[in-house]
Amino acid sequence: MTNLKTKLEETRTLIDGHLDSLLPLPIGKEKRVCEAMRYSILGGGKALRPFLVLIISDILGVKQQNALNVACALEMVHTYSLIHDDLPAMDNDTMRRGKPTNHIQFDEATAILAGDALLTKAFEILSMHQTHSDATIRCKLISYLAKAAGTSGMIGGQMMDLIGEKTPLALDEIERMQALKTGALLKYACTTPAIMAQENGAIFKALETYANAIGLMFQITDDILDIEGDSLVVGKTLGKDAIARKSTFVSVLGLDTAKENIKILAHKAENAIACFGEKSEPLKQTIHFILTRNK
Ligand code: IPE
Ligand code: IPE
Ligand code: MG
Ligand code: MG
Ligand code: MG
Repeated sequence: MTNLKTKLEETRTLIDGHLDSLLPLPIGKEKRVCEAMRYSILGGGKALRPFLVLIISDILGVKQQNALNVACALEMVHTYSLIHDDLPAMDNDTMRRGKPTNHIQFDEATAILAGDALLTKAFEILSMHQTHSDATIRCKLISYLAKAAGTSGMIGGQMMDLIGEKTPLALDEIERMQALKTGALLKYACTTPAIMAQENGAIFKALETYANAIGLMFQITDDILDIEGDSLVVGKTLGKDAIARKSTFVSVLGLDTAKENIKILAHKAENAIACFGEKSEPLKQTIHFILTRNK
């Protein structure tokens, strides 16, 4: 586990270096929005999605330069989703990644623009030749990200999440909401290396099954941390799901059954990656990390 923590920290450093070069500060007055983008994305968060892109790319023999670009594009979309998620009109949060949320540090309009700009920058990066030499694959990477981030992915899930504050959602709806809200971008992290390596068959399927299981595990643990976590460690204000009366796995099943579900999902995820043999070790460690995470 220490091993995985070290690897995550190494990924953070690697990704930050690359993000720094992808997000230069202009000299004009528009500089402010770039500062807001850099404020939220650099040095913050666990970098789990970039980590998954990089380790799976490594397993499948994808060039590191290609993997890094995809990892950074994905982290940009993820960070945009967090900046907007924290806005007063959504979860109205004041702390994220251990510091004031973007709209508190800057202002609401700048936070909206910073989120928008991270989202659009991601697609610019995916369209670059350095992301993949094959234009058809670049096009696939773009189209998959649009779907994972849009109404059939993260945005769709966020809409369901907000509706779930007003009207209780049934268990199957909660599962679907989580698959969209959190699962879709995690699935993108796990399956794009297969797209870049042109592995469309059993390997793609195995990664998809793994991603579905860890995606669900990840959001259930997020909901549990909202109840049981330590705010200083997690880096965000906790206890807000209950206050907002959000429909979550935990609100419907209770903590104990939610925790049982995570264990079942962990087995599913582990079975899915058996086909990678010894190479699956970091993916196994990731399952364990999600099972035991405290942030
Ligand atoms: C938080 O994601 C939002 C969810 C999708 C549950 P992370 O827990 O990965 O946040 P960071 O990137 O580490 O800040
Ligand atoms: C949001 O879920 C996931 C996103 C798509 C941004 P949450 O609202 O539970 O995420 P946190 O707890 O604020 O990180
Ligand atoms: Mg939210
Ligand atoms: Mg939130
Ligand atoms: Mg949460």
